[in-house]
Amino acid sequence: MPRCRLGPPTMVLLVILQGAAVVLLFGWYVQLSPCGPTPSQGKVHVLLLSSWRSGSSFLGQVFSQHPSVFYLMEPAWHVWTKLKMPGARALRMAVRDLIRSVFQCDLSVMEAYMPEHHNVSSLFMWSHSRALCSPPACSLTPRNQFSNQTECSQRCDATGLQGVEEACHSYSHVVLKEVRFFELESLYPLLQDPSLDLRVIHLVRDPRAVVRSREQSAKAFIRDNAIVLDQGDTPVADTQYRVMQEICRSHVRIHERATLKPPGFLKGRYKMVRYEDMVRDPLIEINAMYEFVGLEMTAPLQEWIYKVTHGKGKGSKKEAFQITSRNAADVSQAWRTTLAHDKVKRIQEVCKGAMSLLGYRTVDSEKEQKRLELDLLVPRERYQFSWLPAKTAS
Ligand SMILES: *[C@@H]1O[C@H](CO)[C@@H](O)[C@H](O)[C@H]1NC(C)=O
Ligand SMILES: *[C@@H]1O[C@H](CO)[C@@H](O)[C@H](O)[C@H]1NC(C)=O
Repeated sequence: MPRCRLGPPTMVLLVILQGAAVVLLFGWYVQLSPCGPTPSQGKVHVLLLSSWRSGSSFLGQVFSQHPSVFYLMEPAWHVWTKLKMPGARALRMAVRDLIRSVFQCDLSVMEAYMPEHHNVSSLFMWSHSRALCSPPACSLTPRNQFSNQTECSQRCDATGLQGVEEACHSYSHVVLKEVRFFELESLYPLLQDPSLDLRVIHLVRDPRAVVRSREQSAKAFIRDNAIVLDQGDTPVADTQYRVMQEICRSHVRIHERATLKPPGFLKGRYKMVRYEDMVRDPLIEINAMYEFVGLEMTAPLQEWIYKVTHGKGKGSKKEAFQITSRNAADVSQAWRTTLAHDKVKRIQEVCKGAMSLLGYRTVDSEKEQKRLELDLLVPRERYQFSWLPAKTAS
């Protein structure tokens, strides 16, 4: 007679327990396996889509300094400067494919645009990326501290781009800033790619402030202007207004595409931000952007953001491409006292549609332009509300 014979009720219980264990284990297995429900493996890809002189370097730093972010500034600069064929339209797909590879941490795509023996320093504005100054790319700056571009550029260069790829793989968020997209459609394949979890933050700025800022470093734009206007080597009259017109049109195109009858895969993946709102209320706006892409705000980041948006100085030519401590809200009004009213009128003509869509009031006289207490920014709530009739009408 076996001593430990089990009665039928105990057997049933054991069978049930075993079944439950199998179900549980299978569940874990599915979650852990690479073919599980999150093909982007939880990684988030963020495109900061903006235009020249629209505060995108600052926004880039807001992401670059975050400890969970791998950031690169304008990788498509390499496409535009290396490929001689002019015309933003012709370069569109090369830019798009480069962005996709970089989001996937595949930097081999860069080799087409670089010298044969390249270093990390061959990447455009590489030292603006905190991740390239931190482990595993470089031992200089711990991942949760703020990087210093000067020190980073002196101490963090390395041969080849393997270290950059390794660094890229080690972050939960890959953020790229680009000023070279003029429409959303070329990004559709990326938005539908199951290996990417793409969010687009579209940063816009008052075109009058953009022109004022572009004039301060006009030479830097000669080449890019020719590509925007697809004009080859022949300079055309009124270049700056025509470039502004193209930029304004692109903002309208992008914003309307994303908000009026957007395709399903765009839903919840597009956020428009006005530079002026960001400098008036940096913490609120930046918090909202972090939330949109699933990043946590930290106390040191809050402090850093406050410091860089409330410093002194109006911004000189020398620091045109740098982020410095200055009162960003003042700088965003500087055009009103320094830009000739004739110019303001022409910009308002070529950017009329974009200005009314994005909530920038026009001025009718020089007097109005210089009356700084007159607020030209339509409050966000109002211009968002004004959207509703258009949305439902379409
Ligand atoms: C890369 O760095 C090496 C030294 O580490 C230097 O000799 C070489 O010129 C650099 N190449 C480029 C393309 O900057
Ligand atoms: C960055 O480092 C340089 C050189 O060490 C130093 O002179 C500069 O003040 C630092 N900048 C900041 C913002 O800390």
